[in-house]
Amino acid sequence: MKKLLHIVATPRSDESRTLQISQAFLDVFNRTHQGWVVELLDLTRENLPSLTMKRVDGKYVLLDGKELYGDLKEAWQEIIAHIERFNSADAYLLSTPMWNFSIPYFLKHYIDIIVQPKFLFRYTPTGVEGLVKGKKMMVIISRGGDYSSDSPEISKDFQKPYLRSIFGFVGLTDMDFIIAQPMDIDIETQKARLAQAKNDAIATAEKFIKE
Ligand SMILES: Cc1cc2nc3c(=O)[nH]c(=O)nc-3n(C[C@H](O)[C@H](O)[C@H](O)COP(=O)(O)O)c2cc1C
Repeated sequence: MKKLLHIVATPRSDESRTLQISQAFLDVFNRTHQGWVVELLDLTRENLPSLTMKRVDGKYVLLDGKELYGDLKEAWQEIIAHIERFNSADAYLLSTPMWNFSIPYFLKHYIDIIVQPKFLFRYTPTGVEGLVKGKKMMVIISRGGDYSSDSPEISKDFQKPYLRSIFGFVGLTDMDFIIAQPMDIDIETQKARLAQAKNDAIATAEKFIKE
């Protein structure tokens, strides 16, 4: 079986607009992708390890090209478990609202944990090499305001460019985005944009992974 890891970064559960769109995607994905399982990783319910001095020391040991040893290795067990879970997926669905022009802190914490030298990227004489290869990510976002290309607010979008940069850095360059916006201006616009995003999610899910 292949695995789609669904990474959730909103705590709003059934109230979440982002998750309503993701559910529309998943309903079709499950029907059209036999041989795939969907695994949920709800970052708002995970007890992610803190990046203590010891755990950060481990990152520098790896950047130095050395292996983790002794109590550093011990301190890194949870980090490695998260990296292995991330790497065990064949594709990703990321569900995230915009928070303060960027991503919610649960997701940033997760990224700080998994984006590690030797595991997700390495430096080579010719530059950085991302080690997550041949995989695809669907990103579903909802936002209170409107940061689309014809909006004067576009320069405040630190979310989509950041997600493209950080996942591109680790090799995940095949990313699709569906963005429902604006969600918090008026109810008619919210309903219309949400319906549009669900339709886009359904259309994308049908042909997400081409066998
Ligand atoms: C802590 C917090 C910060 C937010 N910051 C922004 C923001 O910077 N820009 C914006 O357009 N919406 C912002 N919003 C609104 C959400 O992005 C919007 O309501 C979104 O649809 C929520 O998604 P959800 O229902 O899936 O949780 C914020 C909401 C919260 C709770």
